[in-house]
Amino acid sequence: MASSELSFDQAKTRVEELVSLLDHYSHEYYVLDQPSIPDEDYDKLYKELSELEELYPTLIQNNSPTQRIGGALLEGFEKVPHDKPMLSLDNAFSEEELIAFDRRVSQLVSGPVTYHCELKIDGLAVSLKYEEGKLLQAVTRGDGTVGENVTANVRTIKSIPLKLKEPLTLEARGEIYMPKSSFIQLNEKREEQGEAIFANPRNAAAGTLRNLDPQVTASRNLSVFLYALADSSERPVSTQDEALSLLDDIGLRTNPERKVFASIHDVLAFVEEYQEKRTSLPYEIDGIVIKVNELENQEKAGFTVKAPRWAIAYKFPAEEAKTVIRAIEWSVGRTGVVTPTAIMDPVQLAGTTVQRASLHNVDLMIEKDIRLGDTAVVRKAGDIIPEVIKVDEDMRDEESVPYDFPTHCPACGSELMHLEEEVALRCMNPKCSAQAKERLSHFVSRNAMNIDGLGEKVVSQLYERELVNDVADLYYLEKEALLALDKIAEKSASNMLKAINDSKENSLERLLFGLGIRHVGSKAARLLAEEFETMNQIKVASLESIVVIEGIGEKIASSIHSFFKLEEAQELLDKLERAHVNMTYKGKKKEELTQTDTFFSGKTVVITGKLTHFTRNDLKEALVNLGAKVTGSVSKNTDYLIAGEEAGSKLAKAQELDVTIIDEAKVLEEIEE
Ligand code: IVH
Repeated sequence: MASSELSFDQAKTRVEELVSLLDHYSHEYYVLDQPSIPDEDYDKLYKELSELEELYPTLIQNNSPTQRIGGALLEGFEKVPHDKPMLSLDNAFSEEELIAFDRRVSQLVSGPVTYHCELKIDGLAVSLKYEEGKLLQAVTRGDGTVGENVTANVRTIKSIPLKLKEPLTLEARGEIYMPKSSFIQLNEKREEQGEAIFANPRNAAAGTLRNLDPQVTASRNLSVFLYALADSSERPVSTQDEALSLLDDIGLRTNPERKVFASIHDVLAFVEEYQEKRTSLPYEIDGIVIKVNELENQEKAGFTVKAPRWAIAYKFPAEEAKTVIRAIEWSVGRTGVVTPTAIMDPVQLAGTTVQRASLHNVDLMIEKDIRLGDTAVVRKAGDIIPEVIKVDEDMRDEESVPYDFPTHCPACGSELMHLEEEVALRCMNPKCSAQAKERLSHFVSRNAMNIDGLGEKVVSQLYERELVNDVADLYYLEKEALLALDKIAEKSASNMLKAINDSKENSLERLLFGLGIRHVGSKAARLLAEEFETMNQIKVASLESIVVIEGIGEKIASSIHSFFKLEEAQELLDKLERAHVNMTYKGKKKEELTQTDTFFSGKTVVITGKLTHFTRNDLKEALVNLGAKVTGSVSKNTDYLIAGEEAGSKLAKAQELDVTIIDEAKVLEEIEE
């Protein structure tokens, strides 16, 4: 039944059902990492819920998954005192210090002790309060006594349930972090946009959680691991191990990499094991936390003013290496941002040989006073991408001089600008060859038009030989031109042409993303395509109609709107259209996502002849409700002809074009289903 046909009471029941279904699937996905249904099915249920909520706003529950999108801008973060202080931990940097910790504990506790070993997640601490199972408040650690109320932002983090599986009142504490892959993607995007980058996933998580715009938090991927039950008088536990199992049971996400040991020597082995595994984990850890497992023993050990005596953090040595900077390479991105890379003497770092490291942008280079010949300290950001964190000024040559920054684009020679609001240098020449090549590479890349075989070298040659000037030119390439390129034989030329040709059929969102409109990533492109369905509709869309799309902010909307106003954009699109590049959305339409699939979903249907079961209008309406588009004449775009008695020329035409012919009974069948 369509949402609009439900009575209020029916809608209420369905809303409750949907919220708990969606909670269940999202727990499987975000907390357990074990989804049991395809994303598409989740999206369908989500759409159904938002549709019902739109019809009956009074049914919107505060803990509905639709309420995670992030609301209005915040004015600031209210200060909130912690019921119990959020303490920090004493650190240990060696085996000896851990053995000394064990000795101290044994003296304080007198009796057998076991240790609960956990990973030390590199993020920021947060306290979550639930009241009768509902998320009431989320507060940062702050100075340990008073933190900041970040509830609005925390509500957008999908691995944090808005409602527990049981109606318990409790406080849980844990670490909010940004996964390595999300951190790298975020920084790549920021670098490309000339924005300041985050130094590490922890800073990125903190900047995201303490952002005054909850929509920013919602758009970045934060996650959580809870590691403590601060208050749960309702469900007493006697060990840390039991506390974490309880958190698991009620739907709070804990880190599975944990273990209880009876001897400090086994603890040392655990520490060593994770020192090795560290780089292959999807999130950053900076050590191991060792806690006395029994709460009774914890109580015996007690606290100092700043930290518990029953726990210690073993800190891993930082994975850094030193090497000499020999040169600095500047490369131009597709939007003109010019980024520096240090070329260094090869050095071993966290399992690989490193010779190049990012210097990010000119402002950071100035801040760190990076010079040629300097000894650099390198580290892997997010454990993956090598970067120079500082230079060792004590090792600097006496004759060293400050680095001479480029003033002109390394590719086109035009003057570089350092815009006031940006941290990077930018080449402003729209005809810059490096930018043009990058735009082409972006257009053919996997998430855009996905044209195989057009690597950087081929793209560069195509551009330099003036065979391809803009992305549309790719569709006018001929085989002879490709064969004339270096190392391109008959077979690869044919494959390339086929790949180019096949890409003409791509759904609209790929083309939109491929055009490289500023701020329009693949997600925004999909939202646009879903909403407007054709390029022509997007071209004429008003700014207001773009801004209202959920998930598209003002910055993206105005960038899209101004792009389509450009004469050059218009010309490029015309050229693509003349090459028969598809400009329509082929994915599921918005309204289809909420309806179940029928035989007629998305089909173009023509009606002809005398009908017996329906009047013509009723049949038309029934078909539209089943997701079909009803048109007047038969063409090659017609999917079905519904032929009644005495059908004439339309039937003949349909037969000629091989259009499937059906009768009214099929429609009745579908309605019944
Ligand atoms: S327990 C009183 N467990 O490390 C005990 N902390 O240096 C409080 N951290 O502020 C902390 N992973 O932000 C604990 N498994 C873990 C942790 C962890 C990361 C952070 C936390 C804390 C800091 C202490």
